[in-house]
Amino acid sequence: MRTLSRKTATESGHLAKQLIQTLQGFKYLTATGQNTKLGHSINGSIGRLTGYQIRTGIAQAFTGAVREPIAVVFIMAIVLVQLVYLQQPLAPILVSILLFYRGLNAMLAIQGGWQGTLEHIGSIEVVHKEFALQRQHQEPDGTRQIGPLSQGIRLQNLHYSYDPQQGDVLKDITLEIPVRHSVTFVGESGAGKSTLVDLLTLMLKPRRGQICIDSVPGDAIQLASWRQQIGYVSQETVVFDDSIANNISLWAGDHRQDVLLERRIHEAARQAHIAHFIETLPDGYDTLVGDRGLRLSGGQRQRLFIARELFRRPNLLILDEATSALDSESERAIQKSIDELKEQITVVLIVHRLSTIRNVDQVYVFDQGRLVEQGSYEGLRDCDESRFGKLVAMQAL
Ligand SMILES: Nc1ncnc2c1ncn2[C@@H]1O[C@H](COP(=O)(O)OP(=O)(O)O)[C@@H](O)[C@H]1O
Ligand SMILES: [Mg+2]
Repeated sequence: MRTLSRKTATESGHLAKQLIQTLQGFKYLTATGQNTKLGHSINGSIGRLTGYQIRTGIAQAFTGAVREPIAVVFIMAIVLVQLVYLQQPLAPILVSILLFYRGLNAMLAIQGGWQGTLEHIGSIEVVHKEFALQRQHQEPDGTRQIGPLSQGIRLQNLHYSYDPQQGDVLKDITLEIPVRHSVTFVGESGAGKSTLVDLLTLMLKPRRGQICIDSVPGDAIQLASWRQQIGYVSQETVVFDDSIANNISLWAGDHRQDVLLERRIHEAARQAHIAHFIETLPDGYDTLVGDRGLRLSGGQRQRLFIARELFRRPNLLILDEATSALDSESERAIQKSIDELKEQITVVLIVHRLSTIRNVDQVYVFDQGRLVEQGSYEGLRDCDESRFGKLVAMQAL
């Protein structure tokens, strides 16, 4: 029973994972006619699960059925011994047997209870293991609350590795992001730019070296006090199945009744260059966007995401390839909005098209986890033999 229960729990987890993945990739799988491939695998999983359940049922029925005959055989053996070998009279034996039978039944019920426990032990073990894992990987939180970013972020000889055996993904990074300045991380795919961003949001902890925010070491900072100051737009859009207004304000209130809120939502939409599109919709800001923003185009979804982050008025705005999926005109327009915000907030930009970062204050160029060049856009571009100059020249072709 224990083995079967473990197998059932593992298989259920496997089946749930496959179902979720199929639903997430449904459009792609259907469009390319590959849904049958996953269908086979899901059917196999259901088949195995059914098999385990049938076997559990059989085992249950069997142990339930043999319980009574075992009791009868046992009692008959006792009567036999008492009558034939010990030559006892029958009447007292029968009375004591009656009482004994009741006790025996209660004892056999223990087996039933134990079996019931074993049936669920697989699931209990899975949950138990998950809790232990969570405790082990719990984010250590610091105690120092930090106010609005006032000096900047400093990284000192920072090393980071996802897997110690695979070596460092970031090597000896020392750099500074002064407050109300804009910086950009440039480098080929896999250079470590997104990893560096995760270190800035304190999602990852450096293996060696330190990251200081306003001179407070990262591990002493109370995470929420830092993260609520961060606006973060990644390549993977995060859109909720609700109205556009709620997607921008994250359910901050009813924009039809709150004029101030409405104004803020409209301003964020304008800055993200999506206001024009929203106004053409029949329901305007009350338009429902569908599951994960299904009713929007990729570019619109991305701009809605940017609008939400601008609505929050963050002190640090991180855009990690946020505009790469947009057409160059939209990208340039959003770039302009960010340029306007530049004096007010600190911006970290990672872009694909280098022509859009002309106005940033500082460019950091990465190569395989190392910081190889830094300087102003023009300075680096015009410098002979600079890697950045080559990258710009390549994109100009
Ligand atoms: N969660 C992860 N686990 C293990 N390795 C990772 C993980 N994320 C990224 N990496 C590795 O780290 C390196 C840097 O990745 P990343 O920071 O995403 O690069 P970039 O954003 O510059 O393209 C890559 O070699 C990548 O394979
Ligand atoms: Mg990246």
